[in-house]
Amino acid sequence: MTTSQSTADVSVIGLGRVGLPLALSFADRGLTVIGVDNDPVRLGAVREGRMPFEESGAQEVLERVHSSGRLSLSERVADAAGARHIVITLGTPSFSHIEIDMRDIRSALDDLLGVLGAGHSLILRSTVAPGTTEFVAGYLTKHRGFEIGEEVFVAHAPERIAAGRFLEEIDTLPCIIGGVGARSGEVVAELFSAFAAPIVQTTPVQAELAKIWANILRYTQFALPNLLMMDCERYAANVFEVIDLINRDYPRGGIAQPGFTAGTCLRKDFAFSEERSAAPGMLLAVSRVNESVPLFLLEGVKRRLGSLADRKVAVLGLAFKAGTDDERDSLAHKLVRMLERELADVAVHDPHVATPTVSFEEAIDGAEVLVVATDHPEFRDPRTLAAIAEHASRDCLVVDPWNCWGAAQVFAYTSELVALGAGA
Ligand SMILES: NC(=O)c1ccc[n+]([C@@H]2O[C@H](COP(=O)([O-])OP(=O)(O)OC[C@H]3O[C@@H](n4cnc5c(N)ncnc54)[C@H](O)[C@@H]3O)[C@@H](O)[C@H]2O)c1
Repeated sequence: MTTSQSTADVSVIGLGRVGLPLALSFADRGLTVIGVDNDPVRLGAVREGRMPFEESGAQEVLERVHSSGRLSLSERVADAAGARHIVITLGTPSFSHIEIDMRDIRSALDDLLGVLGAGHSLILRSTVAPGTTEFVAGYLTKHRGFEIGEEVFVAHAPERIAAGRFLEEIDTLPCIIGGVGARSGEVVAELFSAFAAPIVQTTPVQAELAKIWANILRYTQFALPNLLMMDCERYAANVFEVIDLINRDYPRGGIAQPGFTAGTCLRKDFAFSEERSAAPGMLLAVSRVNESVPLFLLEGVKRRLGSLADRKVAVLGLAFKAGTDDERDSLAHKLVRMLERELADVAVHDPHVATPTVSFEEAIDGAEVLVVATDHPEFRDPRTLAAIAEHASRDCLVVDPWNCWGAAQVFAYTSELVALGAGA
């Protein structure tokens, strides 16, 4: 079945970190694709055959798709109706009111209302609060009278990939589809059968819960070692040794390592559950633990060195996660803001991100404190620590919650790290 006006197989609305690799992957599998984004700079980059952000392997796919002619681009959401399947990959931030911000999705729905017709399927790929897929179906019925699941199809097919692994995981991670009404699940499964991943059919709300709770699980799992790190400082204990004691040969162990836990998904997705939580506050507490890691590290530095006014502090990393250029909701930015409020002279280096930063050499030169805010692979290189020991100020205080160099010290002076043989 096709809609009367179909000129393409699938449209993807929102060519961001989820939408662009997805659109490219559909086109690379032979589907004709309409990519829609209201950011002319982003569209310009794609038109020129240039990935606007890092995603492993995506540049080569973009080049292939470019020469195939199977991807057309538009700034108008209504043009998405030129395809039978319409996938929404718009951002879904949360308001500070502990509530999903659906403005982008509502605006796209309003743009589509007049152009949707029988045979169209609308797929929410964005992460959404429980009940949103049924809301979208209800909205289409309310305003256009469609019978969802028979005439027009609506489903949630959550994106569960990790940044940097899109092209691998699109073919391997089970593709969850929660369709509304009798046939939406089956119709949307036809689209995702373009990929090798197994398809798992469920209800819309179960698909929504599965996605956000997968992120809640990770966010909570990382909060525990972060809280333990803070407790260890109070008890003058070593968090890495305690973690080793918990996990070593213990079948019920498995606590993660501490670090800066944030990023655009983990930081906000818990709020979608917290909106109507049966235990209000529990996940907010998890969030507060992760959000207070920069403050904990800052206070740890001040306990050791006193005031940071006019002292050089090097921060390595601005991205929210190792090996990515994605800075959205990164706690490294929060750390930098807090250091600046201490009147420190902050020098930041990150080899991946778009925000301008100074060179590694410039950042570490004469630094009295160095914080590893992102555990980029470049920083884990033992030569990084050797360079810090050589070029930072004598006995620079190194703050490394990631244990990049195996020294197992959150706070340590370079002389201690060298004595421990760290990074060797
Ligand atoms: N980034 C990830 O790793 C990831 C992983 C899984 C799920 N998600 C979820 O996927 C969704 C998208 O995330 P993202 O990281 O790709 O977001 P993003 O901000 O990178 O992409 C959104 C895109 O939509 C465009 N846009 C915004 N409003 C528009 C409009 N009205 N019309 C057309 N285009 C518009 C923006 O220009 C941008 O390119 C979110 O719900 C997110 O929670 C993200």
